[in-house]
Amino acid sequence: MRVILLGGPGAGKGTQANYIKEHFGVPQISTGDMLRSAVKAGTELGIMAKKIMDTGGLVSDDIIINLVKERITQPDCANGFLFDGFPRTIPQADAMKAAGVPIDFVVEIDVADAEIVKRMSGRRVHPASGRTYHVDFNPPKIHGQDDATGEPLIQRDDDKEETVRKRLEVYHEQTEPLVEYYSQWSAQGGKDAPRYIKIAGIGTVEEIRDQIIAALN
Ligand code: AP5
Ligand code: ZN
Repeated sequence: MRVILLGGPGAGKGTQANYIKEHFGVPQISTGDMLRSAVKAGTELGIMAKKIMDTGGLVSDDIIINLVKERITQPDCANGFLFDGFPRTIPQADAMKAAGVPIDFVVEIDVADAEIVKRMSGRRVHPASGRTYHVDFNPPKIHGQDDATGEPLIQRDDDKEETVRKRLEVYHEQTEPLVEYYSQWSAQGGKDAPRYIKIAGIGTVEEIRDQIIAALN
């Protein structure tokens, strides 16, 4: 099963990806997590990406497309994958089409901007696994600690309110056109057309999880 999770910053893509990957046994491919690993490792890519990520902009299409193309050739992607935060621009989506990468489902998680700003300010993450919490809406079992490892949780550098606003702006300009792109393709049908599923992202984490899993089954 090949799935794209589409949605603005803080819509809950990472949170839901965590359940979907367990349920369907496909790896999560988060370009954001891949870039954050590169930042942590201090690679050339990481040094370049950090500057862009801290301002809320997007890393160049060429770099991202190559990263993903290389990632999906790994053996764990043989039965499918879950794209989280990719594609994020029309050229990224076109590159997948041109490479003949099949997509079965596009799941859009739709959340209003005002709600997103609230979510980002309370987000805490476990950097090694990408597991995501919220201080009020999805708290860890022990304050400040990852449920599985007990390791400390951190706040992401790009979760400052000013950066979040910029990320929302970039989302509306460059990523939201993919809603039309995939929903029209889905409506036209044809042998390679994905199914388009729109989920209202307001509700508890569990309610949204159940809706997504039911729609994918
Ligand atoms: P990326 O890591 O992809 O960030 P993003 O798209 O901005 O999305 P987030 O990870 O912030 O949000 P999310 O939807 O995963 O929400 P989460 O589940 O954490 O990208 C970061 C940067 O990398 C980009 O800005 C760009 O620079 C670069 N980049 C990445 N991919 C790229 C690409 N393809 N091309 C170019 N550049 C790229 O949830 C958020 C919070 O809400 C959490 O605290 C969570 O606990 C809480 N929450 C979740 N669900 C609920 C709920 N139902 N109710 C209440 N709270 C909830
Ligand atoms: Zn995420």
